[in-house]
Amino acid sequence: MWAGGSGDEAGGMNTSATHTDAHPSPNPAPRLAIQAIGLYKTYGKGDAQVRPLDDLSLDIEAERFTAIMGPSGSGKSTLLNMLAGLDTPDSGEVFIGRTAISRLGDRKLTALRRDRIGFVFQSFNLVPAMSAEENILLPLQLSGQKTDGRIFDRMVDLLGLRERLGHRPHELSGGQQQRVAVARALVAQPDVLVADEPTGNLDSNSGEEVLNILRASVDELGQTVVMVTHDPRAASRADRVVLLADGRLAGELAHPDPESVSTALMNVTASTARPAAASAPAAAHAPTDGGAR
Ligand SMILES: Nc1ncnc2c1ncn2[C@@H]1O[C@H](COP(=O)(O)OP(=O)(O)OP(=O)(O)O)[C@@H](O)[C@H]1O
Ligand SMILES: [Mg+2]
Repeated sequence: MWAGGSGDEAGGMNTSATHTDAHPSPNPAPRLAIQAIGLYKTYGKGDAQVRPLDDLSLDIEAERFTAIMGPSGSGKSTLLNMLAGLDTPDSGEVFIGRTAISRLGDRKLTALRRDRIGFVFQSFNLVPAMSAEENILLPLQLSGQKTDGRIFDRMVDLLGLRERLGHRPHELSGGQQQRVAVARALVAQPDVLVADEPTGNLDSNSGEEVLNILRASVDELGQTVVMVTHDPRAASRADRVVLLADGRLAGELAHPDPESVSTALMNVTASTARPAAASAPAAAHAPTDGGAR
């Protein structure tokens, strides 16, 4: 039922001739949900100029869980925003499915975000006056889509929210609120779910629950998930960890575990550390992050 994408381009966005279905190979190339090519982004001018993205290219495979890590200020959120069509690069291109976002006007970009991307943020972003159920269904209502009761029920059960549907956000724990936010992001069956530090405000048990759900959405529903995190344990739940430093790709791990992620993150952080710049912000964001020291 759930094919991990409802868009018209769910068949993949690869334009390369090697990615056709006509000649299946023993190791077929992965279907890509998002492709970022040569992204540059600059803020400010002169001495105050920062370049959070500096010729960054990245493929996000469909139906996989990708984690993005890197020191504070390395460009993770900037990249995630570009991958989700929330922001546009100064140059370079992002394909969401087969759609090149630079060619879309504001209205089409808004519609693409609404219809094809699910968002989860560190701060939950629920509507305080609405119940959990109303919050979950809000994006569908805003886009005029009908609620698929089976998907709603499956989501609510998967996320363990059945008993909480009538509760407002202030009546829920942080972990429950974030699960409502994940349900809200998933119920519209987005092509891609992006999450920026979704466990950053949660204790380790609640964070674990949210990670279990993200993992299950990939394994059981075929969802594509891209998550920024500072926590090597969280990142190790992903299929692949991508490391950023100074707006560039600084490495990746295909089979991450907490130790290998911690080591890789330490190496990247050490290699990019600048006097009086790198250590304090990184530590401030990583209270449970053994690898960011
Ligand atoms: N709107 C903006 N205006 C000016 N500078 C910005 C803006 N957004 C980001 N930056 C700068 O770009 C750089 C990268 O920011 P970004 O938020 O992508 O980092 P990050 O890796 O997500 O960091 P953190 O781990 O602290 O969340 C930083 O130096 C930041 O100050
Ligand atoms: Mg960030």
